[in-house]
Formats: sequence, C-alpha cells, structure tokens
Amino acid sequence: MSLATQVPMLAEWVKAQEVKGAKLKNASVFNRNLEEMLDMRRAEQKLITLRKIGPNSDFSSNDFLSLGSSGILRTAFLEELARLPNFNVGSTGSRLLSGNNDYIETLENEIAEFHGSEKALIVNSGFEGNCSIFSTVPRAGDVIVYDELVHASVHEGMARSAVIVREPFRHNDVESFRDTLESILETQALIRDGHRCVIIAVETIYSMDGDVTPLKDLVEVAKELFPAGNAQFVVDEAHSTGVVGPKGAGLVCSLGLQKDVAIRLHTFSKALSGSGGVILCNDTVRTTLINNARPLYFTASPSYPTLAAIKAGYRLLKEGATEQAQQTLQDRIKLFLTTLSSHPAYDRAVDAGIFHVPLMEGWESKPFLTQIVPIITPEKHNYFLTFHLQLLKMSAYPVDFPVVPKGESRVRLVFKATNTPQEIVELANAICEWGDEMLEIKRGGKTGTLPKAARQVYSWLAAGANTNGFH
Ligand SMILES: Cc1ncc(COP(=O)(O)O)c(C=O)c1O
Repeated sequence: MSLATQVPMLAEWVKAQEVKGAKLKNASVFNRNLEEMLDMRRAEQKLITLRKIGPNSDFSSNDFLSLGSSGILRTAFLEELARLPNFNVGSTGSRLLSGNNDYIETLENEIAEFHGSEKALIVNSGFEGNCSIFSTVPRAGDVIVYDELVHASVHEGMARSAVIVREPFRHNDVESFRDTLESILETQALIRDGHRCVIIAVETIYSMDGDVTPLKDLVEVAKELFPAGNAQFVVDEAHSTGVVGPKGAGLVCSLGLQKDVAIRLHTFSKALSGSGGVILCNDTVRTTLINNARPLYFTASPSYPTLAAIKAGYRLLKEGATEQAQQTLQDRIKLFLTTLSSHPAYDRAVDAGIFHVPLMEGWESKPFLTQIVPIITPEKHNYFLTFHLQLLKMSAYPVDFPVVPKGESRVRLVFKATNTPQEIVELANAICEWGDEMLEIKRGGKTGTLPKAARQVYSWLAAGANTNGFH
C-alpha cells in the first residue's frame, strides 16, 4: 500500500520536506529568496504544512467538548439564525463605525453576566484580544510581570505597549513570582509609591504544558505585597473556557476570584467550537480598549454568523447542556492516565528517559484534569512517536523549539469528549509499545537505528528527498 493511501497527512508532509535547492535556478529572485529560507526548514524536515485530521482518531483538535464534531453546536446555531431570518451576513464595518449593533451588545451583556463580570467586549480572536489588552492597558511607567510560558499573543501585545520593564517569572512558580514582585518594589519608586501599576499576565491552563496556574496563591502574594491594589491580573482562560468551573465558566469563577482579577480573556475557538474571543473587565478598561486598541478599531467587527455561533455556544453552557461532556472529558483523561501509567512498559520507558509525562505527577489528587497532555521526548523522538501514532491512524502532533523551550520537545495530546474509551486505551498502549521499541534500540546500543514507523516514513522520504538531520 502506498503512503498516500495509508496516511494522507503523512504523505503530504513527507512530500513537502523535499529541499528545492537547485530546482529554484530559474525562479524569480522574490520566490527564490523565500524558498531558500523555507529550504532551511526542509533540510531539517521541519517545514510546517497545513494538515487535515481525516478519519484518524483525533488527539489534536481544540473541540474539547466535541460541540463541533457532535453536531450539537450546529443545531443550536441554526436555531439561533432562524430567530433573525433577515440578518445581514456581513459585519458592515469596524466596531467604532457601523459595526456596532444591539445583537453584539446584548450578547456581551449575557456573557458578562454568565462569567460574573461587570462588562464584556467581544473581539475577533483571542490573539486580537491579548494584543489589544497588552498594547493598551499597561501605561508608560507600569511594569508587566508574566509567567515565562504565556502565549505568543501576550508577547505580541507587550511588544507594542509603552511599557519598558517586562519581567518574566518562572513558570507556575509562586516563589519566583514573589521574588519578581519584591525586586520591582525595590527598584521602581513610582510603583512602590502607588503611582504606577504592575500588570500580571498568566494563563489558566497552559497551552503547551496543560498545567494549571496556582492563581489563588499568586493573587494572595500580589495582595500582600501591593495592598493598595496597584498589582492587577490579566488571566487568559483560552483553555479553561467551557471545561473548567460551574457550567464551564472558567477557572476564575471556579475559584471565586472574579473580584480579584481585573481582566479575563475567554476564547471561543476551542471548547466553544466557534471563533473569536471576549475580554471581561470593568467599564473603565472596556472604554480604554475601545479608545486605544488598534487591533480592535482597525478591523471589522465580528459578522453576525460568528456572533450567532458564540450565542449558541453560550446558550448550551447556560442551559447546562455541556456539563455531561465536561464530565466525560474528565473520565477520558483519567482513563488515559490510568492506562498509560499501569502499562508494564511505562515505568521502564520513563526510567530510561524515552519519554515522560509531567502531568502524571499527583494527578489523582488534582481538583480537575486538563485535556492537554504533553508526552515529553528527546529531540526528534517526538517525530518518531508521531509517526508511530499516525501509522496507527491516531492524530497527534510534535511540538518543538521555538514553540516550547529547547530540550522540551513533545507530542502534544489533546483530548475531547467524543474520544471513545477504546481509542484512549489504544493510544496509551501505542505510546508504551513505542517506548519499549525505543528501549530495545537503546539497550542494543545501536545509535542511529530508527524505530519501525520512522524507518517506514524515512524510506518514503528517501525515495524522493534527502534524510539529513535524522541520524
Ligand atoms: C493561551 C491562548 N491564548 C490565546 C490564544 C488565541 O486564541 P484564538 O485562537 O482565539 O486567536 C490561544 C490560541 O492558541 C491560546 O492558546
């Protein structure tokens, strides 16, 4: 059977890694310059390609509650469209010009109420939301303190802000957070004297690590060191929206910290299976954003169908229609962790450094489990594991530097409510079987020997391209 028939996604990826090199001789300078840069990625078999999951078991999409794949959201969405049969499909303009209307304002009020927030401001994407917040809210003289693993969109926003001092703290490390705040108090007189603010950026569930911010502890430290309230939090709920807290209202709601967090960002592109985001804040912050956020006013407001999908998603949350999926998701993650850790090969593989699963530590005592589970491997081995899974028709993807720190290559697994127990058990078994295969290779001292799936993929690759960089 050919590669194209066996695993179409892999076939496309293999084909795309072929270095173009000499074939570019007659290309325009414009294209050649770009292709040369892409060739550097191809030479390492790291060209990113757009891929489709196809019929594979899905361990990569963000449809955590399966609202999209199950069709539940479609039904609610079509019902919502039917309520306004004469709707205007287009957005008609920027929110500041013609793009504002009763529908979006009512929806914002409903969303604010659901999450226990004074106000809400809908944006076209979570990325745009973070860019708007961080480029606009921190004023000159403020300091931004951020968890070292915050999302790229926060960095994008920070880079556009007027803030000069931006201090990372060690990921999820409360002591490092405290040290960072203390050193700011020592060095920044305007902040110490209460004339300027510290804006703190954290995520609820980290997108590449799947671990949860110790938000309650961080809030306590900030309150202790800044009793005047000039240290304020911006919490990104992208991965907790819909899956954490009462009816999926998020981590801040589940911890009762609505009054302690100045700004929250929820995204609709993940568990809510739509697109867009919402900034939850007070009236002052909302007005500040409307007046200053370039990502907001130099773009059209979300179109009516986009808003209708968001409204339909929130209706499902509010009615409790997603609670069963929330519970099922928890059960599936639990099944995965149990099956993986009780497999006879698991300890062997972990002890030998073939892979490890940081989230395995103490998972039984966590208040909830997270749907993002990275399997950390040595560099390139994350590709070997991906090939192994893809050939078994399981979709999961490798992640490397610069998306994650060097030395922390991984296969990022993402679970959703409609993953069947059988799929989950097969996945856990497949990972451990691959672990055993790698262990055999390691024990045999045969450096450079590839595991079976990688051999197969590279033989396809070698038929049409070079294999530099894999051995
Ligand atoms: C933590 C976090 N924040 C924000 C975003 C951006 O969200 P959106 O897809 O709505 O632009 C993402 C998406 O990957 C994310 O993981």
